[in-house]
Amino acid sequence: MYTASQERYALSEKIFSRCGKSGVLLPKVSLGFWHNFGDDAPIERSRAITRYAFDHGITHFDFANNYGVPAGSAETNFGRLMDEDFRPYRDELFISTKAGYLMWDGPYGEWGSRKYLISSLDQSLRRMRLDYVDLFYSHRYDPNTPIEETLQALVDIVRMGKALYVGISNWPLEPLKAGAKYLKEHDVPLLIYQGRLNMLNREPIEQGILDFCAQEGIGFIAFSPLAQGLLTSRYLDGIPSDSRMAKEHFLKSDRRTPELLEYLRQLEAQAKKSNRSIAQEALSWVLDQKGVTSVLVGASSVEQLANNIQTIL
Ligand SMILES: NC(=O)c1ccc[n+]([C@@H]2O[C@H](COP(=O)([O-])OP(=O)(O)OC[C@H]3O[C@@H](n4cnc5c(N)ncnc54)[C@H](OP(=O)(O)O)[C@@H]3O)[C@@H](O)[C@H]2O)c1
Repeated sequence: MYTASQERYALSEKIFSRCGKSGVLLPKVSLGFWHNFGDDAPIERSRAITRYAFDHGITHFDFANNYGVPAGSAETNFGRLMDEDFRPYRDELFISTKAGYLMWDGPYGEWGSRKYLISSLDQSLRRMRLDYVDLFYSHRYDPNTPIEETLQALVDIVRMGKALYVGISNWPLEPLKAGAKYLKEHDVPLLIYQGRLNMLNREPIEQGILDFCAQEGIGFIAFSPLAQGLLTSRYLDGIPSDSRMAKEHFLKSDRRTPELLEYLRQLEAQAKKSNRSIAQEALSWVLDQKGVTSVLVGASSVEQLANNIQTIL
């Protein structure tokens, strides 16, 4: 039986940040469930990480339909944690999911049609044992579906009470602009944009996406702020057998170049001056960019998450 820490909001002033010009506050460090929460990870470790997050004021958990191995298992396992640990705290949690990438066979299992988005969200709700999610994203832009079809599905998902807010992830700037306009005109303002932003990948800045969000009062949440672990001490001395890089799937070992190691050594020297870790230095850099609401971190241990949360305390 889990009882959340009584101290979980003791440091609210430091932890929370307003999401654009909305009424929603999000923790500056949010927890992502892409890796380490599927059937390929021990459930008790996933439970410990999730509890640690919530006990420290991390109220925002981010999913997508396809997270975990097999796809969907991160949501299914979280459904179990909802029932066993978090049900009494549902209204304190801000839970997001997404649809866009391949989830099931046939023509309705990916991209941006109304058929796919609504069916996928229904599946996510069943897996997570939830009545609604707080935030539902289009996970990628679909150039072959009329943009109005995707956007109207988002509007209707809110009208149907399946999500409270909508977000857009990985869309290029021009469709993002059109999307934000459409959603505003249909009284479902775009809450947040989710994009990859870290010291090694600055595309949302270079492409004007971060500026656009800041100007329009749309929140921005940075995914892979540690470049999947590259911007930490994880790979300084080799490739640990339990690391993401060792799996050679989403993070390939050819990313561990002499140039990267040199960059990390410099970052480490800089971090040491303020008694911080490389990860904390990297997260601070993202959080310092104008318009960034939150960094969406992954973690394979409580220690990693603790180190990451320490950045904002
Ligand atoms: N919208 C999208 O298209 C999209 C795409 C990707 C991700 N996301 C979201 O963003 C979330 C985070 O992505 P991510 O997992 O790539 O984020 P990340 O924070 O850049 O990388 C997380 C990985 O870095 C390592 N790590 C984390 N903290 C560490 C620390 N303090 N010291 C040493 N190593 C540390 C761990 O690797 P090991 O597992 O090897 O220990 C961990 O799994 C996802 O869960 C998902 O919610 C969204």
